[in-house]
Amino acid sequence: MLGHRVLAVWSVLVCAAAYAVTTGVGAAPEPAGQAAPADLAALKAKFRRPDATPFPKANPHSPEKEALGKALFFDPRLSRSGSVSCGTCHNPSLGWTDGLPRAVGFGMATLHRRTPPVRNLAWGAAFQWDGRADSLEAQARMPITAPDEMNMTMDLVVERLKAVAGYGPLFAGAFGGDDPISARNVTAALATYQRTLVSGEAPFDRWIAGDETAIAPDAKSGFALFNGKAGCAACHSGWRFTDDSFHDIGLTASDDRGRGKFAPPSVVAMQNAFKTPSLRDLRMQGPYMHDGQIGSLADVVEHYAKGGEKRPSLSFEMKPLDLSEAERRQLIAFLETLKAEAAPVALPQLP
Ligand code: HEC
Ligand code: HEC
Repeated sequence: MLGHRVLAVWSVLVCAAAYAVTTGVGAAPEPAGQAAPADLAALKAKFRRPDATPFPKANPHSPEKEALGKALFFDPRLSRSGSVSCGTCHNPSLGWTDGLPRAVGFGMATLHRRTPPVRNLAWGAAFQWDGRADSLEAQARMPITAPDEMNMTMDLVVERLKAVAGYGPLFAGAFGGDDPISARNVTAALATYQRTLVSGEAPFDRWIAGDETAIAPDAKSGFALFNGKAGCAACHSGWRFTDDSFHDIGLTASDDRGRGKFAPPSVVAMQNAFKTPSLRDLRMQGPYMHDGQIGSLADVVEHYAKGGEKRPSLSFEMKPLDLSEAERRQLIAFLETLKAEAAPVALPQLP
C-alpha cells in the first residue's frame, strides 16, 4: 500500500524534475519541495543519520579499548609473514578497502571476493559478503586465522603480542585483570575500533537536514528515481543504504554461491545471494560487487536497467528498467552526494 503511494508521488516528482532539467529553469522553485512536502519529508526522514554509535553491552566502548584496537588494526605482527595488517586490505586512504577487484592475500594469492570497506558496521547485523559472522568480534578472528589471509593462529597472535613490551599496559588499561592479553580481548578491541569508523556527513545529509542548496537538482531527481521508478531503495534502505539482507541480483554466477552455502537448497532465493552493500562513500572509480565483476558505476546502472540474469534465485525486486541517459546520470549524481569529504586518518604509533 504505502509502497504504491510513495511510487505514485515520486513519478509526479520525477516528471516535475525532468521538466526542470529539459527546460533549464534552474532558478524555478524546488519541484520536489512543491509537489508533496509531507511525503518528501517522510521519505527523507527514513534516511536520517542516527546521533550515537551503538556498542554492545558485552563489549562496551572505552577510549583505551578503541586506541588498542586501532594499534592492532594497523599492526602487521598479527599476520604470519609480519607484513600484512588489517589496514593493508582495509586501507583508509582507499576508502577502507584496497581498490582491487578481489583481495590479494597470503603469498600474493588472489582471493575469491572483493575487500568491503569497514565503515558503519556498528549498525550491521551480519558480516562478510555471505553474512557468516554474526558479530564484529566473531568476524575479527576470521581474517587472522584464514590460511589465505593472515595465516595465523590466535595462540601465536597472543604469544607475539605478549613479547611486545608496550602491549601489556595497553591491554591492562583497556581490559584490566591479571592476564589481559588474550584472543578474546584482541577481537574485542578490534571490534570496538571498527565500530568507531563511521561515515562523515555527506552533502545528502545536509540536504535532508534542510539545506536545499546542498545537492544539485539532478541529484534530487536521482533520489526520486532511487526510491521510485528504479526501485533501488527496496534493498538499499535506511541511512546506510542497506537492508542487511542477501539477494541474488543476477550477476555472472560462479562457484561462489554466497549465502546459498548456509541455506538449504530448498531456499532458492539464497543461492547466488550476497549481502546488500552500503552505498555511502562508494569509491566512484570502482570496482563493484562481491567479486569486483563490474568496473564502473555506469555499468552498474546498466546491469540494473537490464534486470540481471533470469534464474530461479533472482530477486523478485529485479526487473528490467526503462532508464533514459538523463535518468542514469541522475542516479549516479545522487550516489555521489552520499560521499563525505575524506577525513585524514592518523596512523597509530605501534608499541
Ligand atoms: C588479505 C586482505 C584482507 C585482510 C588482511 C583483512 N581483510 Fe577484512 N576482508 C577482506 C575480504 C576479502 C573480505 C570479504 C570476505 C568474505 O566475504 O568472505 C573482508 C571482510 C571484512 C569484514 C566484513 C565487512 C562487512 O561488510 O561485512 C570486516 C569487519 C573485516 N574484513 C575486518 C578485518 C579485520 C579486523 C582484519 C584484521 C584482523 C581484516 N579484515 C583483515 C580482506 C581482508
Ligand atoms: C534486490 C535488491 C537490490 C536492488 C533492488 C538494488 N540493489 Fe544494488 N545491490 C544489491 C546487492 C545484493 C548488491 C551486491 C551484489 C553482489 O555483489 O553479489 C548490490 C550492489 C550494488 C552496488 C555496488 C556496491 C559495491 O560496493 O560494490 C551499487 C552501486 C548498487 N547496488 C546500486 C544500486 C542501484 C543504483 C539500484 C537501483 C537501480 C540498486 N542497487 C538496486 C541489492 C539490490
